[in-house]
Amino acid sequence: MTRAEAKARIAELASELHEHSHRYHVLDRPTISDAQYDRMFKELQSLEEQFPDLKPADSPTLRVGAAPRAGFRKVRHVRPMLSLDSLMEESEVREFDARVRKGLRSDEGLFAEAVGYVAEPKFDGLSIELVYEDGVLVRGSTRGDGEMGEDVTENLRTIRAVPLRLSANGPKGGQRGRVAVRGEALMPLAEFEALNKRLIEASDEPFANPRNAAAGAVRQLDPGITASRRLDFFAYEVMDAEHERFATPLATLEALRGWGFHVESRAKLCAGLDEVLEFHARLMEKRDRLPYEIDGVVIKVDRVDWQDLLGARSRSPRWAVAYKFPPRIEVTKVLDIIVQVGRTGKLTPVAALQPVDVSGVTVSRATLHNQDELDRKDVRIGDTVRVRRAGDVIPEVVEVLKDKRPRGTERFELPGKCPVCGAAVEKVGAYHVCTNGLSCRAQLQGHIEHFAWRGAMDIRGLGGRTVHQLIEQGLVKDLADLYQLTPIDLSGLEGFAEKSIENMMSAIEASKRPRLDRFLWALGIEHVGDTVARLLADHYGALEPLLEATEDNLQQIKGIGPEVADAVRRFFASPRNRKVLDRLAKAGVKPVAEKRAAGPQPLAGEVVVFTGGLEVMSRPEAQRKAEAAGAQVASGVGKKVTLVVAGPGAGSKLEAARKLGIPVIDEAAFIRRIGER
Ligand code: IVH
Repeated sequence: MTRAEAKARIAELASELHEHSHRYHVLDRPTISDAQYDRMFKELQSLEEQFPDLKPADSPTLRVGAAPRAGFRKVRHVRPMLSLDSLMEESEVREFDARVRKGLRSDEGLFAEAVGYVAEPKFDGLSIELVYEDGVLVRGSTRGDGEMGEDVTENLRTIRAVPLRLSANGPKGGQRGRVAVRGEALMPLAEFEALNKRLIEASDEPFANPRNAAAGAVRQLDPGITASRRLDFFAYEVMDAEHERFATPLATLEALRGWGFHVESRAKLCAGLDEVLEFHARLMEKRDRLPYEIDGVVIKVDRVDWQDLLGARSRSPRWAVAYKFPPRIEVTKVLDIIVQVGRTGKLTPVAALQPVDVSGVTVSRATLHNQDELDRKDVRIGDTVRVRRAGDVIPEVVEVLKDKRPRGTERFELPGKCPVCGAAVEKVGAYHVCTNGLSCRAQLQGHIEHFAWRGAMDIRGLGGRTVHQLIEQGLVKDLADLYQLTPIDLSGLEGFAEKSIENMMSAIEASKRPRLDRFLWALGIEHVGDTVARLLADHYGALEPLLEATEDNLQQIKGIGPEVADAVRRFFASPRNRKVLDRLAKAGVKPVAEKRAAGPQPLAGEVVVFTGGLEVMSRPEAQRKAEAAGAQVASGVGKKVTLVVAGPGAGSKLEAARKLGIPVIDEAAFIRRIGER
């Protein structure tokens, strides 16, 4: 490359990196993946090494992050917050190891050849510094530009995993003088999915990933919003403790745990590089089953005195690196755009993709959410797109590669008529909705599947294929028809023989005594999920008073707002629904309300399984508390289980729970559920 070419390329890279860094750090809305950013960053670094005099005075390589956003007070970190070099290749990790060993070898041969490392998950969240004075949280800040961060203390105080006071169970030095703790604020995947769903429904722009969502939540000017986003916080470093010293990273984690922080219990001491590589490979396999996003492994030299010896470069330490996982983004083609009609009549555009392997999972469909999202991304049939998978989130089209667009493509518009039943489609909020209600086969299908689902009426064996046949043959036109089915009806269905008919009949019979809240949920009333259903069941105790409840009356219940109240009242006021309810009752379907014990029983009726580690409570304590809250505690995950509390290290049980669609929560959420905090 000539000098002139290098100069032009450096200018181009610097300007793009500035732009992307701004989008990432200030706007929380990046448009490129971390891997793309890293690649550009490295290219710039290497050009600047070749042509040092061409390095711009404000080169992005000189900075760790971006300047703080206006609106927050700026605060200086106790020490600069460094970044980690990102490595993508095993060979780079070997080079790191070689550099470390070389750096530690003295002329006298004082240091051992083998260096131990601690390997731990690299959280994909937002770096935070917390400062404690005499054990009390006095300040919390974001990374900012590494020297100065934004003072977001008030927001951080709303995160339950951020101790407001260091627990006396930890090292005593925590109670005196200053202690600075660093860690990562992050949004659990379940929370992220729920938040994006709400944003999309409100026609707002969803967050690209949990990290941006966490950053958006922490950098709110209103702490109330931060609080509502339910972030978690994991601590990994003690920077500046006046009265405590820790010799190794694991000792630091142990101390942090004692002070009341969540720490990553998967952190592992590795005797050498091979063990580190194995840890990386293992963790990558488990990545999808973790309740939050991680994007690689942090590798740290296992002795703090050696870390000090190795020191740091301007933006990153020499004693630690991040060995990243391959990105979960791939490029593929949109073969078609299909319109699906859901239980509530919502039309969802779905991209049918040329199947592509995205870090181990074949992806052939990606949701496009609604017309607004489609317009925003302008996805067309024939386009080449980037698709992303984040944890359990449904694959999504991130962006269209516009320069690869073939000629003659057209914008995609959702149809004005329902693709299933041909009825008119209406725009309701952000969505296009089929107006035909349960006369639309797609809606009826979704409605009945939902009703029969495990968490609802739990009619075993009544899955999608059977429901489809029942509808096609005109045997089922509403929920009540299910209870009129006879063995003769079923014998006409494909795949039904004597035994399966008998099973289905008894499954239907067995569903006639549902718990009231599950019954309410099963009805598929708009805005009534399991939580609202429980509130209604607790408040009214039976179906009859609920039928006549007015909007005012409904709104008296804490947790029920005008929108929900309106939906509930409309549902029960509808003559058609009343008729179905009457017929259900006549067929013998009688919901039963839970008998409440004297105290509050927030987990009444739940069958709970604990798996993985707990950080706040011991296992027996957690089990006792679950039982006191009305739950039954089980040891294995099976069909009866309704809730799984998973902690670090959870494995096969967590997987089983995911497969069965059983809700999974973490310890913090469990503590909230039992109302302890
Ligand atoms: S230790 C010199 N441990 O990722 C910084 N950092 O991209 C060493 N991060 O700056 C920090 N998970 O903010 C450490 N388990 C972990 C981490 C972690 C995420 C953050 C940290 C770091 C950034 C680098």
